[in-house]
Amino acid sequence: MDNRPIVMSGIRPTGFLHLGNYFGAVRNYVRLQREYTCFFMVADLHSLTTHPDTQELRGHVHRVLAENIACGLDPEQAALYCQSHVPETTELYLYLNMLAYKGELEKTTTFKDKARLQPDNINAGLLTYPVLQAADILLHRASWVPVGKDQEQHLEMSRNFANRFNHRYGQVFPEPQAFNFGEALVKVPSLDGAGKMSKSENQLATLYLADDDELIRKKVMKAKTDAGPPAPGTPMPDYIENLFLLMDLVSQPATTQAFRDAYDRAEVRYGDLKRQLAEDMVAFIAPIREKAEAIRTDRAYLARVMELGAEKARSSARETMRLVRDAMGLDYFR
Ligand code: TRP
Repeated sequence: MDNRPIVMSGIRPTGFLHLGNYFGAVRNYVRLQREYTCFFMVADLHSLTTHPDTQELRGHVHRVLAENIACGLDPEQAALYCQSHVPETTELYLYLNMLAYKGELEKTTTFKDKARLQPDNINAGLLTYPVLQAADILLHRASWVPVGKDQEQHLEMSRNFANRFNHRYGQVFPEPQAFNFGEALVKVPSLDGAGKMSKSENQLATLYLADDDELIRKKVMKAKTDAGPPAPGTPMPDYIENLFLLMDLVSQPATTQAFRDAYDRAEVRYGDLKRQLAEDMVAFIAPIREKAEAIRTDRAYLARVMELGAEKARSSARETMRLVRDAMGLDYFR
């Protein structure tokens, strides 16, 4: 082990990464892996709280690994592993469960949302989801957790569990903090002018890294526009600004600027703009898609990746669990 700061994050195996995942998360993981000791975990056990079908899960785990690697996550640099391959996780989860209160778990936003969505399956795993997440993080005594806003509450709960453990049994865990990317955190707007790209909402308004060239073109060409600015200097409506934001991500700066200037002169042609954006999207996504597909279908390679990741994660986990059991005094042989 080296003494670089430790970063840990979990990736939900929902399959199909989209452009929002890429610019919002994966690209930042890729940057972090060079400077920090990174643990990036596929949260397959968390999936079981909502999706108990393991046959489907299998395909999603393969896909999410392949897509993340195709985006630049390097299994040699970071520890890239599956949660279920690190059984120490479940042991720590059990100890932390004794430090988590029913009241606070029931108040968690994600629990309330999911309980509403699956009233017939409000299982205990769903209730203790944040405890399992805390175990993932604390297992590596991670200091930094790169996650989106929707995970802040879980992270705060992880800090609480860490503090309760430290107070009761002795200092073992650092307080994990959200890793803030500052301006590197870009918003990826959806193509229908409503909100961000996300997997749950309008699929035609979201670009997936698995979309083929024709589908990418079709989605971009369907993006909402209007008759164009009526006069020079007209302010941009949101849905047009969004197209420019997408261009900023994948097009040459000079190209984007030329279209912005044309807009300001009220001479922009949205057909041309969308054709340009479509081609630049295709050029950006196609190589990632092809690489991901080659990795996803190479089961022997994926197996090696998972084994290597599990080895790295377990070696870190074993060290932490020795400290945990020592601190708790669970060493009756002595
Ligand atoms: N709950 C996270 C999500 O929904 C996934 C996750 C599981 C995670 N374990 C984690 C994130 C540990 C950060 C750290 O996206």
